[in-house]
Amino acid sequence: MSFPLDRPRRLRTTPAMRRLAAETRLHPADFVLPLFVKETVSEPTPIASMPGVLQHTLGSVRKAAAEAVAEGLGGLMLFAVPAQKDARGSAGLAPDGILQRVIAEVRDEVGDDIVIMSDLCLDEFTDHGHCGVIRDDGTVDNDATLELYAEMGIRQAEAGAHMVAPSGMMDGQVAVIRRALDEAGRQDTSILAYSAKYASAFFGPFRDAVESSLKGDRSTYQENPANTRESLREVRLDVEEGADMIMVKPALSYLDIVRQVADMVDVPVVAYQVSGEYAMVEAAAANGWLDRERTIMETLSSVRRAGATSVLTYWAVEAARML
Ligand code: PBG
Repeated sequence: MSFPLDRPRRLRTTPAMRRLAAETRLHPADFVLPLFVKETVSEPTPIASMPGVLQHTLGSVRKAAAEAVAEGLGGLMLFAVPAQKDARGSAGLAPDGILQRVIAEVRDEVGDDIVIMSDLCLDEFTDHGHCGVIRDDGTVDNDATLELYAEMGIRQAEAGAHMVAPSGMMDGQVAVIRRALDEAGRQDTSILAYSAKYASAFFGPFRDAVESSLKGDRSTYQENPANTRESLREVRLDVEEGADMIMVKPALSYLDIVRQVADMVDVPVVAYQVSGEYAMVEAAAANGWLDRERTIMETLSSVRRAGATSVLTYWAVEAARML
C-alpha cells in the first residue's frame, strides 16, 4: 500500500519545487527561427494565414537575423520566394538567385554567431510546385532531381550556409549532396536531413508563405501519416548517407516518431513545429479560446520532452523572450 507514504503532490507544492523537479528545460539555443524572403516585395509583407510572420526583404531579413542572434537563438532556417518560377526551379540554382543572396546577406550580418541553415528544395522555385523536376506524365523524377539538389547544395554553401537542409524527400538526396559538397571542398558544410517528413495537411499556411502553385499533393515522396517504420527506415538511411542531424516534421502530431527516432540514432534530432501548428494556436488564441503564451510554451516543452534536441518554430524569438 503506497498511500499515504507516497504523495507525488509534494514535488508540486511551490514554484521552486516544481522548477527543481522539472525534467525538461527550454533554452533560447534550442530554437531555430524560419525566415522567408520574397524577391519582389519592397517592404516586409504579412502572411495572412500566419499572423505575425512576414515575407521579408533583403534589408529586413538582416535585421531579423540580428535580432535572432541578440536573443541567443540556435539557428536560422532560410527560405526564399523568387520573382520567376519555371519547370526546373532555375532560380534556386543560380549563383545570384534570391536564396543565395539571402544567405549571403545574413552571413554578412551575423557571421558565425548563429547557425545559418538553408532550405534545399525546389518547390519554392518550380512553377508546378513540386519538390523536384517532373516527367511528361507528371511524376517526379527522383534521379534527375538529385543532380539539381547537388548543384543547389554547392551554391548554398558558397553563399555562406553553415548547414544545408534537404527537404524534398528524394531517395539518395543526402548521399548525393554530401558527395557534391565534399568534391567542392566543402567538407565542413553540414547537412540537416528532413528525414521523416510526412505528407501533412499542416503545411497549408507555408504554401501561402512561399506562394506555392502546387496542385495535387506530395504523397509520392512525403510519408504516409499512418506510418512509423517508414520513418525509422528513412532516418537510418539518411544517417548512413551522412546526415549530421535529422529532422522529424511536423512536430506535434508526430511526437511518437520524435521519441522513437531519438532513441534510435546518435545524431541530434530536430523537430519542425510547422506553419499549421502555428496557425492553429494563433487562431484559437485570437478567438480567446486558448491562452496563447501558455500553449506555446507547452507545445515547445512537449517537443523537447519527446526527445528533440532543437525545435524549428515561428515563435522562436518570442519564446526566447518568454523564458
Ligand atoms: C519544402 C518545405 C515545406 C516546408 C518546409 N520546407 C513545405 C512542403 O513540403 O510542402 C513546410 C514548413 C511549414 O509548414 O512550416 N521546401
